[in-house]
Amino acid sequence: PPSERVRSSVIRVEKYLQPFQLSPETLQEVSARLRKDLLRGLGKHSHHKAPVKMLPTFVRATPDGTEKGDFLALDLGGTNFRVLHVRVEEEAQKVLKMDSQICAIPQEMMLGTGEQLFDHIATCLGDFLESHNLKGQTLPLGFTFSFPCEQLEIDKSILIRWTKGFNCSGVEGKDVVQLLKEAIHRRGDYHIGSVAMVNDTVGTMMSCGYKDQSCEIGMIIGTGTNACYMEEIKNVKRIEGEDGRMCINTEWGGFGDDGCLDDILTEFDVEVDKTSINPGVHIFEKMISGMYLGEIVRLVLVKMTKDKLLFKGQISEALGTCGLFETKFISEIEEPDSGLENAKKILTELGLDWSLVDASVVRLVCDTISSRSAYLCAAALATLVNRIRNNRKLGHLKTTVGVDGTVYRKHPTSKLQKAVRLLAPQCDITFLVSEDGSGKGAAMVTAVAQRLKKSCSTMCTKASE
Ligand code: GLC
Repeated sequence: PPSERVRSSVIRVEKYLQPFQLSPETLQEVSARLRKDLLRGLGKHSHHKAPVKMLPTFVRATPDGTEKGDFLALDLGGTNFRVLHVRVEEEAQKVLKMDSQICAIPQEMMLGTGEQLFDHIATCLGDFLESHNLKGQTLPLGFTFSFPCEQLEIDKSILIRWTKGFNCSGVEGKDVVQLLKEAIHRRGDYHIGSVAMVNDTVGTMMSCGYKDQSCEIGMIIGTGTNACYMEEIKNVKRIEGEDGRMCINTEWGGFGDDGCLDDILTEFDVEVDKTSINPGVHIFEKMISGMYLGEIVRLVLVKMTKDKLLFKGQISEALGTCGLFETKFISEIEEPDSGLENAKKILTELGLDWSLVDASVVRLVCDTISSRSAYLCAAALATLVNRIRNNRKLGHLKTTVGVDGTVYRKHPTSKLQKAVRLLAPQCDITFLVSEDGSGKGAAMVTAVAQRLKKSCSTMCTKASE
């Protein structure tokens, strides 16, 4: 009977999938290693070589609900580049997106010169201002730039290195705000006001923070993965000052870049890293995020087929081609109700001669790899909430995490949430999916920076009076 056949295949298949299954003890171990790496990243002398960079963001306060005004926002770093016009309304405690426009960035441009990239950004912004009659105004601009940057000021931010799909020449080591301003200057047909640079995690935290003021963590599981959180300034040894908190962009995607996760990497992870545009960089991210999950599944399916476990041993051209098994197929195949039907459709589209057993096995592979992604993220998030709880010497921490990214939105989140509860039992976490965090959040950061500047100048004037 088919169920017998399914069962025997499943047993053979399990051998393949076992290395992807991480026990709670292993996840605890992963979390313990990350805990140490957070400290290395925060340390005055250890941060240079730390794989988890723990970058200060100069965001010292989350919104207090009194911010207001009109802003422009740019969002670069996911699959699309966007320009937005955002209004922050104090009375309604709302961040409104007035208008937005998506500009495609062709792949050649992602791998071209920095000048081309920033000219393109300046053109998109110019077109947007033109078509929305905003060219005459000088609005403050929030720039969500979702790559690891050494931030020197809120408007001075040096790109450490490209990650994900970008690798433009002449940008690493440079101030990205300056490059943007130069590109706008080259056009000379419009002006922008003060600029605030933001990582997407920070934007996400800040956009949720307007609604829920206990939101002190921002997490992205999309094309890439990363998180930021509010750290005590006295623990950020590379920054002067003792009082208050600052948002730290952890860049946890780089966890494992020193080899500390080698024992849990599978041969497929090693292969994905090797064939990526940045081998050796962002090892943790490559096990978790949307840019890589589909490819991991594809490599597993190819090997199983070569071992005659699938598709009568026949690899189609599409299955044999790097990148053609898309991450979105995984969530379609995982759907509780229509998953099996979706699997059949996708396998047909990929030119494969499948049986019912094959389709079930493919579902199992997708489920295993997306679960591992969720569990690893859970381990990392648990490390952060446990740290915040310890920082504040609290027996119990109640906090909110602002979240965004297609992988989080499209995949079942129950596994992630359950695993965090297991790994951080004294923390009670609310997950708040951010609506357009990278866009609205950047405006929010700009608004908070303005509020602080204003209150500082009033305070300073008062003091001198
Ligand atoms: C990559 C980037 C990081 C960003 C994340 C999510 O990890 O390095 O800055 O936050 O992707 O987009």
